[in-house]
Amino acid sequence: MALGALAGAGAFVDMRFLEPSGLKLSRVDVRLPRTRFPEPVRILHLSDMHASDDVPDSFIRDAFELGLSCKPDLVCLTGDFYTQRIPDRDIYVASLKRLSDRCPCYACPGNHDGGSWVIPYGGYPNLGELFDLLRASDVTVLHNSSETIRIRGTPIELVGLGDFWARETKPLAAFPSGGGDGAPARIVLAHNPDSKELLRAHAWDLMLCGHTHGGQLDLPLIGTPFAPIADRRHVYGLNEWNGRLIYTTRGIGNLFSLRFNCRPEVALLNVT
Ligand SMILES: [Fe+2]
Repeated sequence: MALGALAGAGAFVDMRFLEPSGLKLSRVDVRLPRTRFPEPVRILHLSDMHASDDVPDSFIRDAFELGLSCKPDLVCLTGDFYTQRIPDRDIYVASLKRLSDRCPCYACPGNHDGGSWVIPYGGYPNLGELFDLLRASDVTVLHNSSETIRIRGTPIELVGLGDFWARETKPLAAFPSGGGDGAPARIVLAHNPDSKELLRAHAWDLMLCGHTHGGQLDLPLIGTPFAPIADRRHVYGLNEWNGRLIYTTRGIGNLFSLRFNCRPEVALLNVT
């Protein structure tokens, strides 16, 4: 009995006080299914910072610095920059600029960043605050739009989508024409992995997502019952889908200051 209580207390301390701040760097090799880069491209994939009372600015800055220590070629940020409101805009700009000063940075919004989904929870009525934050930080927003970049001469098409839960995912506007055999690699930034269902008819190679927080609580014998997605094959990690790849990161921040068996993640994708 006493042993059980001790184990329960230990799990609570871990879940509430240790894991939410226990950053983990994941290095993931990604081999694109359709095309090859002449040399590996290092993509720093960051998501779900959730700046708030639960996730201090200093923790987000530390996560960015950990990512920068890997010398990425490109940074992709896949939404939920804050939980409801930006706690301190100047501090956030300074942290984001650390990223954009070092390499190209692209972002798509998440359901918490503004718009219809977050209004009932006290969030911004639209994405204006996010766009201002990212513009001031020299981070390029891809909101149902695309841009072709070159990394050491290799072209990559980046496509960024509006959020799925906010009903702002508009692939017809986002995707450029073409794609497929012989075309440059096409990488999609979409907050929610369930967005894929709207992208079946489009050509793309790799989709970067967050949203799930890896389930946030990964419970023994039970798994991740709180992961907020329909297709539970994409709660976390690199997964194949219809001949394409989807990487879902556990993200940096959290909701309610809780994580269990599911540490916050800075993901460095070595893409070939
Ligand atoms: Fe999130």
